[in-house]
Amino acid sequence: MPGTIKGRTALVTGAGTGIGRAIALAFADEGAGVAVADVDINAGKETIELVRQRGSKALFVECDVSKGKEVQALIEATVREFGSLDYACNNAGIHNKLPESLADLDEDLWDLIIEVNLKGVMLCMKHEVKQMLNQAGGVITNIASLAGLSCEPGSYAYTAAKHGVVGLTRGAAFEYAKVGIRINAICPAVVDTPMLAVAPEEVRQMLLAQHPIGRFGKPEEIAAAVMWLCNDLSAFVTGSSVVLDGGASAW
Ligand SMILES: NC(=O)c1ccc[n+]([C@@H]2O[C@H](COP(=O)([O-])OP(=O)(O)OC[C@H]3O[C@@H](n4cnc5c(N)ncnc54)[C@H](O)[C@@H]3O)[C@@H](O)[C@H]2O)c1
Repeated sequence: MPGTIKGRTALVTGAGTGIGRAIALAFADEGAGVAVADVDINAGKETIELVRQRGSKALFVECDVSKGKEVQALIEATVREFGSLDYACNNAGIHNKLPESLADLDEDLWDLIIEVNLKGVMLCMKHEVKQMLNQAGGVITNIASLAGLSCEPGSYAYTAAKHGVVGLTRGAAFEYAKVGIRINAICPAVVDTPMLAVAPEEVRQMLLAQHPIGRFGKPEEIAAAVMWLCNDLSAFVTGSSVVLDGGASAW
């Protein structure tokens, strides 16, 4: 199992912007080669440029995580380029822009959010684990949400998908604990990223009031937790849902 991150290979999905980009740059700062996957080609290419500026090797792969064949090709491209896959961070996700009531739920939007946020994580883990089984192990970190542990009112599909990610994480951690593959989830409260930027000001203020610490999280703070989970300092941690929420769940 990887001990320190330097010289290893990391894959981050949805790394074109926001939390994913911060995670990709944190891996670069630790000296890992970084594969960046995203549906947004321009954003993904910007991220690999930033990784290279930090002195690390980088690869961009256009990939929709909800498509099995694209995910398989992503893992193959990563291993072809770097020779291994030591760390995978399944971060790509989407959010419903406006709250919905159950009675008016949009079925197409439900399908899309479940496909990307839940099926996407399952597909990524499936192909990542296959590769890690061929090596000495690895570490997988899934970016869930506080909505994976409690409900986000008006976000049915998002809440259901993130609860699913926590469940998938636990099941996979259980299955692979004895073969050197650790699998954890991170459950952040609100983090200041482009995902949040679309929220109207009154919604931002309402969300802010839910954080006793008086601010939103920073993408770099989520990235720091991913680095800890990938390092041997957390060697006893698997199947966990690590909460980073500025006290939001302490209410
Ligand atoms: N921002 C928050 O408040 C917050 C809180 C808790 C959890 N999260 C989770 O963190 C993750 C990242 O969120 P963010 O705030 O950085 O979002 P973001 O919208 O800023 O970035 C998401 C990235 O994922 C990419 N993406 C979208 N669909 C994709 C797909 N099908 N395949 C591949 N890439 C795709 C986008 O192009 C974008 O680059 C998500 O899973 C989100 O649910 C975010």
